[in-house]
Amino acid sequence: MKKINIAIDGPSAAGKSSIAKILAGKLGYVHLDTGAMYRCTAYKALQQGIDLSDEAALVNMLKETEIELTPAGTVILDGTDVSHAIRADEVSMTASKVASLSGVRKELVARQQKMAEAGGFIMDGRDIGTVVLPQAEVKVFMTASPHARALRRLRQNQEEAISESDLATVEKEIEERDYQDTHRKSSPLKKADDAIVLDTSDLSIQETADAILKMAEPFLKEEHA
Ligand code: CDP
Ligand code: CDP
Repeated sequence: MKKINIAIDGPSAAGKSSIAKILAGKLGYVHLDTGAMYRCTAYKALQQGIDLSDEAALVNMLKETEIELTPAGTVILDGTDVSHAIRADEVSMTASKVASLSGVRKELVARQQKMAEAGGFIMDGRDIGTVVLPQAEVKVFMTASPHARALRRLRQNQEEAISESDLATVEKEIEERDYQDTHRKSSPLKKADDAIVLDTSDLSIQETADAILKMAEPFLKEEHA
């Protein structure tokens, strides 16, 4: 029985990972958070003090790097659990920086494509529908307003009340990263021609997951036929 693949692309805090996780649980598929791979690259480069514009050094570093993403969502970098460490703000911006280098992308995309060969993957990132899995049966371009996304990031990361100035700072960071990701030369974040846009600004996680399940239904019926 051939399983389908589902590609979810979109900007930061659109809800890609949360929804991919729910869908994976529901369908018995594997969720692959490709952003975690760029974050591991950034984290290791920062730790080793590698010049972030030295593409050859970064590619060489990656060739000696093992990244394991477990079904439970744990991220293991060269044998160490870095799930928490790679979510730091500095790592987010650095991930976006190293992700603009085509050599880095080539190395990580090859790994992602190899993993998804068997089907049954829900992959989320920036270039899944356009580059990594252009043949994916279901492609979603998930988005939400910068304001909604900044609120979500803050609620995710802090328990205290959210001030206007915190919100403005995070919104600015989000817009900077969006700009960097959509304007780079190598595989910029953009909607695949055949992807369906899902604006989640006013949608709950469950409503979004249900909308994608509906898109996948015809393919899943074929899968079970
Ligand atoms: O993976 P991505 O950066 O696109 O977003 P995420 O990590 O899945 O979601 C960021 C935060 O927004 C999480 O805390 C989600 O629970 C929350 N979220 C939400 O409140 N409503 C949605 N419709 C989607 C995500
Ligand atoms: O969690 P969040 O949505 O904020 O970011 P992420 O998905 O963990 O990705 C971190 C950074 O890696 C992004 O800002 C992109 O620059 C890069 N990335 C990419 O270029 N291609 C992917 N398939 C996934 C992430």
